[in-house]
Amino acid sequence: MSRVLPREMQELNQGISGCTKCLLAATRTNAVFGVGSLDAKVMFIGEAPGANEDKQGIPFCGAAGKILDELLAVASLKREEVFIGNILKCRPPGNRNPQNDEIIACTPYLDAQIAFIKPAVICCLGNFAASYVMNKFSLANKVQGITKIHGSIFITDAAYGKIKIMPIFHPAVVTYDATRMPIMAKDFTILKNIPKEKQWD
Ligand code: URA
Repeated sequence: MSRVLPREMQELNQGISGCTKCLLAATRTNAVFGVGSLDAKVMFIGEAPGANEDKQGIPFCGAAGKILDELLAVASLKREEVFIGNILKCRPPGNRNPQNDEIIACTPYLDAQIAFIKPAVICCLGNFAASYVMNKFSLANKVQGITKIHGSIFITDAAYGKIKIMPIFHPAVVTYDATRMPIMAKDFTILKNIPKEKQWD
């Protein structure tokens, strides 16, 4: 279903489609802006598009996306009511890890999405998202590997009010280690039960 985007988001998305701020522009098929509600209470932030996402321009539309959909159901959340985005908007070749220069070049787009959506909760999918988001929201001293901090909720201040940051394993881990699914489902049950009202200061 097509929808009319607010001008600010249209301009942001145009900027992302034409972006040449890093070398990933040369190898991408599509930039992947993010999908979902621009009034979402919960935002999910992954790492970077993979091959399917690059082809279709939609985040989490491949194997990891299927896992994410199952986990959203555990939290009684629908894709349409949350926003799903990534640290990088373009696919790193061969799905290698994002590089620092790419993160620095690309995250102003994510910052603009967060500032527009003003989520009450950000779920960080994996180490790259957790590290970026926690540093952004003055939680640098709490950053540890995802194995240690997954399922924790950090409450902090955004420019617009209180925000809860929840690091979670990246859904892709389940595609190569199915025993992680119950652990992730437990974290999504925590997510289901935390208050998600936007709290303005
Ligand atoms: N992995 C991610 O981190 N993001 C996607 O969009 C797909 C797979």
